[in-house]
Amino acid sequence: MPVGLVPTMGFLHDGHLSLVDLARRQNSSVITTIFVNPTQFGPQEDLEGYPRDIPRDLELLEKRGVDLVWIPDREEMYSKGFQTWVTVDDVTRFLEGKMRPGHFRGVTTIVAKLFNAVMPDKAYFGQKDAQQVVVLRRMVMDLNYPIEIVVAPIVREEDGLAMSSRNVYLNPAERQAATVLFRALKTADQAFKAGNRDADGLKRIMEEIISSEELANLQYISCADMDSLEELSGQVNRGLLSMAVFIGKTRLIDNILIGI
Ligand code: PAF
Repeated sequence: MPVGLVPTMGFLHDGHLSLVDLARRQNSSVITTIFVNPTQFGPQEDLEGYPRDIPRDLELLEKRGVDLVWIPDREEMYSKGFQTWVTVDDVTRFLEGKMRPGHFRGVTTIVAKLFNAVMPDKAYFGQKDAQQVVVLRRMVMDLNYPIEIVVAPIVREEDGLAMSSRNVYLNPAERQAATVLFRALKTADQAFKAGNRDADGLKRIMEEIISSEELANLQYISCADMDSLEELSGQVNRGLLSMAVFIGKTRLIDNILIGI
């Protein structure tokens, strides 16, 4: 009687629902959690403004046939005097981990706590947060959780923008500009498929496209090893192309795997 867990921070979109649908197909029971986890937000980040709509989320989850929705409150997850953390070392040093100090400590701690409480057979995460998947796989291996991490592909809007709860922050001009992330990734992917295997060359292609968009401000661009997440140089046969870009005040991330 396998149990599938879909941890979320709510304000669900089709990306979350694709995880729920996959979990529904693969398990006899599906549990979804909704918890805007304060410890994975930096002091200057959008914790308080993070979009929330629990009634709508519950309606969507009921329609998808989820058996149980758990919405813990902050005190339930972080008791007074809380001081015990789960940290993963090497793979959190790069990319998002470098830009958002403490972020992954918050993610691994909350996910470990959810795993301890639910003890699912499988847990579902989106490829959109590529580094999160690598970090959680490491944690599951290192802490001997008997849980399979299942990863679902990125779900995109028709114009290519990766679905994210934060897309709601974008005004119409920014929403249009936000398509630049996927355009850059797709162009680099096409160049790779056409024989351009140089990591720096691929990054340059993406940088040029991002810098052509007035409202976009590149934070990082990367061509990394998909397991260690270390930056690659020279000729590459496979890798993770990823980026974080500010569109106005909204920080968006996206990625594509090449050579798989
Ligand atoms: O990916 C997310 O929404 C969050 O990082 C997660 C896994 C629910 C932990 O808070």
